[in-house]
Amino acid sequence: MSHPSERGFVHPTPSEITPRAAYDGRRRWLQQVAAGALGAGLAGWAARDALAQAKGAPLVGAKSAVAGAVTMEKPTSRNDATTYNNYYEFGTDKSDPARTAHTLKPRPWTVAVEGEVKKPKVFDLDELLKLAPMEERIYRLRCVEGWSMVIPWVGWSMAELIRRVEPTGNAKFVEFVTLADRAQMPGLRSSVLDWPYVEGLRLDEAMHPLTLLAFGMYGEVLPNQNGAPVRLVVPWKYGFKSGKSIVKIRFVDKQPNTAWMKAASSEYGFYSNVNPKVDHPRWSQATERRIGEEGGLFAKKRPTLMFNGYEPQVGQLYAGMDLAKQF
Ligand code: MTE
Repeated sequence: MSHPSERGFVHPTPSEITPRAAYDGRRRWLQQVAAGALGAGLAGWAARDALAQAKGAPLVGAKSAVAGAVTMEKPTSRNDATTYNNYYEFGTDKSDPARTAHTLKPRPWTVAVEGEVKKPKVFDLDELLKLAPMEERIYRLRCVEGWSMVIPWVGWSMAELIRRVEPTGNAKFVEFVTLADRAQMPGLRSSVLDWPYVEGLRLDEAMHPLTLLAFGMYGEVLPNQNGAPVRLVVPWKYGFKSGKSIVKIRFVDKQPNTAWMKAASSEYGFYSNVNPKVDHPRWSQATERRIGEEGGLFAKKRPTLMFNGYEPQVGQLYAGMDLAKQF
């Protein structure tokens, strides 16, 4: 095994690191907000459900113990992360979702889990909120278009759900189907994608502890434009693999045909792992621009890391694969 520095690790510069005291202070503050609002010590679950109905309600997670789940890089501002979005069901411009996603109704909500599982089940959102302890994960998110952010998510590992539904021996892949409702989503009038937005993972990728089912960000329930009420976050893959507003999770034996593969299979492969060595036909993947960084469009670009920097955790999943062919 090579030394991390030989594997292209770039350590954050001091200015990118949130001072420990400020970080801890913010966490304590969020916990106090949650506890105070509930009057029940640290957020009893029943009361959390009631709170979770409100926009901007606290949703606090304990710091995750999963390896690689917390970066010390400075999080992108909440304002940038909630106004610069890709959510084509609400328009194709980055500023569209923040303006138009207020028509999404994140409650009531169910997620149907079906296919090759011994215990298929339709989960109500309230059940999902209680299914496993909430954790805060601070992940880098890199878009194939060449920009990146650092976002503090709140949720739990997808593996928690997978274990409970007991996949059969035929389950090789997991397909994620997201909401497609013309009444709530103005972008569905456009045929830019074949709706509904569908994404997929191999079963072992979905089981990886870093694969997160997220319900919140920045210590609050997810804003609509970021995929309320529940979305996937797969930090070592390009952003589009992380489907928003999920309504169905299907376990299948064949590789799912995803919305982006249907739109342009030569540009978007099934795996879509962040890989600085394999360029997209239209955008280099070697470097990236961190949203919100001083200098804006002219800010110095930073090198993109293999698997978005999560190589020590996920590299083994792809041992023996030719990632230029299976991109
Ligand atoms: N999910 C749905 N349903 N529709 C979308 O258009 N866009 C994807 C992904 N999930 C998308 C989606 C893309 S391209 C990216 S980069 C991320 O969401 C952006 O997530 P963010 O807006 O929270 O940063």
